[in-house]
Parts: sequence; C-alpha cells; structure tokens
Amino acid sequence: MIETVGLEKTYPDGTTALCGLDLCVDRAEMVLIRGPSGAGKTTLFRLLLGMERPTSGEVFIDDRRVDTTSVRQVRALRRGVGMIFQDFRLIRGRTARENVEIGMRVLGLSGREMRERATRYLEEVGLDHRVNTPAELLSWGEQQRVGVARALAREPQIILADEPTGNLDEDLSHRILQLLRGARDAGASVLVAIHSPDVLRQTELRVISLQNGRLVGDSRAVCRRGEGSWT
Ligand SMILES: Nc1ncnc2c1ncn2[C@@H]1O[C@H](COP(=O)(O)OP(=O)(O)OP(=O)(O)O)[C@@H](O)[C@H]1O
Ligand SMILES: [Mg+2]
Repeated sequence: MIETVGLEKTYPDGTTALCGLDLCVDRAEMVLIRGPSGAGKTTLFRLLLGMERPTSGEVFIDDRRVDTTSVRQVRALRRGVGMIFQDFRLIRGRTARENVEIGMRVLGLSGREMRERATRYLEEVGLDHRVNTPAELLSWGEQQRVGVARALAREPQIILADEPTGNLDEDLSHRILQLLRGARDAGASVLVAIHSPDVLRQTELRVISLQNGRLVGDSRAVCRRGEGSWT
C-alpha cells in the first residue's frame, strides 16, 4: 500500500514540484499517473522512495512512515520496493544479468536462485539474447527493459515505475504493462508514470492526472481511506 497525505515539495531554489498531494494506492491495485513534463511525477517517486524529504506532508509505504524514518530504516523499507527509474540507472561494465542480480542482493537469495530469476525476468522482457551484454552496449529500449527486469525480479510488494515504456514500441510497451499487471495480480501495489496517449486512451486502469504538482484528475475519484482497507 502506498499513501501520501498533503504532500508538498519545494526545492531549495524555490521550485514547488508537489503541492498538497493526497494519493492512495491499495494492495493489489495498479494506478497510472499522467501529467506533462515537469508536473512532479519523478519528484513523487523520489519522495516515496525516501530519496528526498518532503517540505511538508506524510508518506507511507505499507503503513510505515517513510518521510520521518532514519536513513537506515528507509534502506530496509526499500527492500520491499521495486523501482524502475526514468533514467534506468544501470551499472556500466556489468552485463544485463549482473545488473538484475545486483538488484536482488539485498534479498538473501542463493547465487543460483538469483541467476535463475535474472535469466527468467530478462526473458520476460524479451532480452534472452542480451543477458551477457554489458549495459553500455545496449540500446535505450534494451536498457530500459533491464531496469524493468531488475525491479520485477525482486518480486516486491510495491512497484514504482517512472515511465517504464518511454523508449519502447507499442508491442513492447504492452508486454511491459502486462508484466506490471501480473505483479499487481500477485498482490503488489503498482504506480506507473506514463505518457503514451494510446495506453491512456484504452486503459481500464485507474488513471490520476498531475499538473503543476497538483492532482487534477482521478478516474476513480473515491479514495479507499477510511473504508476499512486501511489500518
Ligand atoms: N533538484 C531539483 N531542484 C530544483 N527543481 C527541481 C529539482 N528536481 C526537479 N525540479 C523541478 O520540479 C518540477 C517537477 O519535476 P519532475 O522531475 O518531478 O517532473 P516530471 O513530471 O517527472 O517531468 P518529466 O515528465 O519531464 O519526467 C520541475 O519544474 C523540475 O524542474
Ligand atoms: Mg520524470
């Protein structure tokens, strides 16, 4: 479960990126977040991950407060989160499989299990032929898919995906969204920033709209807070 209450972020230079954001994404729910460039999507992910502290407001991941916890506790919280970064953040000089394995290190799996999972998730994103290729030799779209595999291979309860299909063609975008739906069906809370007009036009998923740091639309306007699914 992901929740923000009255979330505000003003950067030191005075730019207000988020303004009073109330958002909740339940367990086993997948939500798309749309909004023009600069609307505050990446800032929201950074706050959810505890990479930045909000100016005011509260952030909860699985009922645990993120914005006031210590750096060490935030690290522990992140173990349950799979983050797909807009700028991929792969490690150069390491192969696609090694990058995915590195994402699993904190989970305490055996080397064999990590290898097996990494191979399986790279296959799922259509990269079975690139598992041994160093990250820097991959195309943008391939790097993006390694980033998706790295997040999914952790099999986390929370998935934060910042434009995970930004460099992909329609078929691959569809495939990645299906994988994210699969994680949701397995019980994860999934929040996905997305621009694709095709996806947004056709989707059955809940879509929220962000503009100038404010929530300006929610296709399922009723928040579940206070309805019994929140503890
Ligand atoms: N470290 C920072 N210092 C100052 N301003 C920042 C910082 N990071 C982001 N911003 C500003 O905050 C606003 C929101 O940025 P953010 O990256 O969250 O947008 P976004 O919705 O992810 O955009 P995009 O679709 O282009 O990725 C923008 O005006 C941006 O310039
Ligand atoms: Mg962004």
